[in-house]
Amino acid sequence: MSKIGIFFGTDTGTTRLVAKKIYAKLGEAADKPKNINRASLSELLSYDTLILGTPSYGVGDLPGIATGCMEAGWAEFAPFLDGVDLSRKKVALFGLGHQERYSERFASSLFRLYALFYGAGAQIIGRWSTEGYEFKHSAAVLDGQFVGLVIDQRGQPHLTDARIEQWLAQVAPQLTPELARAA
Ligand SMILES: Cc1cc2nc3c(=O)[nH]c(=O)nc-3n(C[C@H](O)[C@H](O)[C@H](O)COP(=O)(O)O)c2cc1C
Repeated sequence: MSKIGIFFGTDTGTTRLVAKKIYAKLGEAADKPKNINRASLSELLSYDTLILGTPSYGVGDLPGIATGCMEAGWAEFAPFLDGVDLSRKKVALFGLGHQERYSERFASSLFRLYALFYGAGAQIIGRWSTEGYEFKHSAAVLDGQFVGLVIDQRGQPHLTDARIEQWLAQVAPQLTPELARAA
């Protein structure tokens, strides 16, 4: 069975926590989540299906040293994808943000992750409703929906598990044929 690869960027560990929750719910279907700053391009490319996560920092930038993070992240990995064809990859995305404090750019870095992989030809799945969130603007909203699962672990931690479960019920069967048969 081909497994799902889970990669994340993080500064203070919350995106890692959410990646681990996703992994726990997927069980055998996925490999252990890996920080993108410890992953090589070939490792990422070894998966046909991917779940990728990012927090939001900067003005909707890809997080990394350049956006003031303590550790390297997606910003430093992005150049490795230059000229890489991802058209055979299926990718589901999740992003973290804080809607009350950063209402003008809630989870906006998620859009940059979307643009990076969509731009390289990947098929992006797992859009997510904006219902239940309150914010003024998010670059991560396209055609009225978030481009992936959005988690606000600071403002709405009580909703995280249910959101992950509901989102995975939608995306997991699209990521592995085995899960599709079980659905
Ligand atoms: C300096 C700083 C800038 C942030 N900028 C944004 C932002 O622009 N939009 C947003 O939704 N959240 C923003 N956040 C909130 C983080 O994205 C959120 O707390 C996230 O869960 C952190 O994930 P991490 O622990 O994996 O780094 C910011 C937080 C800090 C400390």
